[in-house]
Amino acid sequence: MIPQEIKKDIFWVGTIDWNVKNFHGHTYTTQRGTTYNAYLILDKEIVLVDTVYEPFADEMIEKINKIIPPEKIDYIIANHVEIDHSGALVEILKLCPKAKILGTQKCKEGLYRNFYLDMDFRVVKTNDKLNLGKRTLTFIEAPMIHWPDSMFTYCPEEKLLLPNDAFGQHYATSKRFDDEVDNAELMDEAKKYYANILWPLGSIILKKIEELQKMSIPIEMIAPSHGIIWRKAPSKIINSYIAWAKNETEPKVVLVYETMWGSTERMARMIVEGIINSGLEVRLFDVTRSDRTEIIKEMLEAKGFIFGSSTHDNDMLPTIAGFLEFLKGLRPKNRLACVFGSYGWAGGAVKNIEGILKDIGIEIVQPSLSIQYAPSKEDLDNCYEFGKNFAYKIKGG
Ligand code: FEO
Repeated sequence: MIPQEIKKDIFWVGTIDWNVKNFHGHTYTTQRGTTYNAYLILDKEIVLVDTVYEPFADEMIEKINKIIPPEKIDYIIANHVEIDHSGALVEILKLCPKAKILGTQKCKEGLYRNFYLDMDFRVVKTNDKLNLGKRTLTFIEAPMIHWPDSMFTYCPEEKLLLPNDAFGQHYATSKRFDDEVDNAELMDEAKKYYANILWPLGSIILKKIEELQKMSIPIEMIAPSHGIIWRKAPSKIINSYIAWAKNETEPKVVLVYETMWGSTERMARMIVEGIINSGLEVRLFDVTRSDRTEIIKEMLEAKGFIFGSSTHDNDMLPTIAGFLEFLKGLRPKNRLACVFGSYGWAGGAVKNIEGILKDIGIEIVQPSLSIQYAPSKEDLDNCYEFGKNFAYKIKGG
């Protein structure tokens, strides 16, 4: 693929990872693959903003070579230390050994701990500037969006924000811009990215967006380090981030369960019937047969969560236990929940799920529902009412 000019003399020199299906170890399933976006700015000084994951270093270098000999690079901006963006740094530095690297103090420390190399690293802070000739770059520290080292780079002359991971999506496509792709698909991936990576960081994200607004920096284009570049409507993704960061919700329920011999599943289906007949949107997931990344995305805007499990060894089943552990790390706020499950002799699943929800700070709004062995007709009627009652609570009753 050839480099793509995204603004006059600013080129996308990133790579498309069509085949990656698991990201961050196995914490994120990337069904649509991803891209690692790096950008080359040609001016009196030549700047590479971020690099790519190391296995794609040759592709990035080939693209750069089509524009300029890499030894002409004067600066490399390291907005983030994580190796999907810094992995190719070592290879590119072999070709431009005199290039100075700019990033935060934490980035400097992190790069050293990744590569154990001496680099000509210059630490920058918020509002520090780099004059390129016709253009300037301004740096904005963005700690914990999403690592301590994270930083945004802004070019005022181009009204261009290069925020690294923020506003990104794991979305492999031959297109580069928001106006070239299916918008529902794009927003679906942006939402999935926020839910699975940034959800616990909402208060920090809100403060950072407020800080950007106070800086009065006009933004016409947001070029993140994954996925599509926002040029048609950068405000759309900023406003979505504000809503997600505020934990704004919709009257929608997500039910997640795990069943051993089918009793908990029959309960789940009747609870969902009660919710549907109350007119609420609901999604049901057997956690053992569903993509966790997708469930978390569905939960991002849902007001109500329902969790169910059969009891095994006085506890919940292991897959839902792992799911709740993951959810705990995302620290969802402003949600209502309820719990159900079946057991043989001594229960335990329902009580332990309640305990985890309390730890997370999710309010349980009605008594849990437990049944022994297989549900009777009366038990199933109770499940239906359980669903209806929860729907009533979600509607504000
Ligand atoms: Fe895309 Fe935090 O790396």
